[in-house]
Amino acid sequence: MALRVDILTTFPEMFDPSAESAALNASIPGRARAAGLIQWHATNIRAYAQNKHDKTDDRPFGGGPGMVMMCQPLWDAVTAVEAMDPRPATRIVLTPQGVPLSQAMVRELATRPRLLLIAGHYEGIDERVIEKLAPLEISIGDYVLSGGELAAMVLIDAVARLLPGALGHELSAEEDSFAEHAGQRLLDCPHYTRPREWNGMAVPEVLLGGDHGAVAKWRLEQKLVRTKARRPDLKGPA
Ligand code: ADE
Repeated sequence: MALRVDILTTFPEMFDPSAESAALNASIPGRARAAGLIQWHATNIRAYAQNKHDKTDDRPFGGGPGMVMMCQPLWDAVTAVEAMDPRPATRIVLTPQGVPLSQAMVRELATRPRLLLIAGHYEGIDERVIEKLAPLEISIGDYVLSGGELAAMVLIDAVARLLPGALGHELSAEEDSFAEHAGQRLLDCPHYTRPREWNGMAVPEVLLGGDHGAVAKWRLEQKLVRTKARRPDLKGPA
């Protein structure tokens, strides 16, 4: 059965599955969706607002700039959307205050039957509804986006490509950056394609010789060298 992903957002048009140009409809996520491996639905939180102007946000208690997402519309949206499917949903709020997303987390999320992604906006979400929802809180990096929608798309893309059958080459995901070798996470090695020489620059000889053992050894060395040079912080599994 397809992995079901619900996105709760005030900008559902960003996830429009019928829009040719929508980011998630291109490439692997689009193919995974067409192949029935994953489906995503965006729900407008505003549709659940029970106030005069369908407001989803209000001014912060204590003062200060920006607005805060209100409890009621979000809580009602989550309960309504969860009731649309009997499978239990893993609730996730995308926020810069969350745990940094890692490939290990992506692998784990790709095994769940259903994900419910909540894209926060404005200054944040009223803490009480977060407490009541008890979601995983996930960040895609130490920078601030205008909202959680792009972060939700990043998560959906990373998960979609790991669903069995999504990648053309079954082994591709095992060769990715952050795949583990002997318990150590490694960056990927450099890649080359035709022509053999470009602008006076040659492809490493070992890749042209057809010796698969030698190629595998060279690639592993390159991964180790790259990881040490670029990401010395990448130690064991995460
Ligand atoms: N919303 C705003 N910034 C974010 C980030 N870095 N990660 C996840 N969600 C966010």
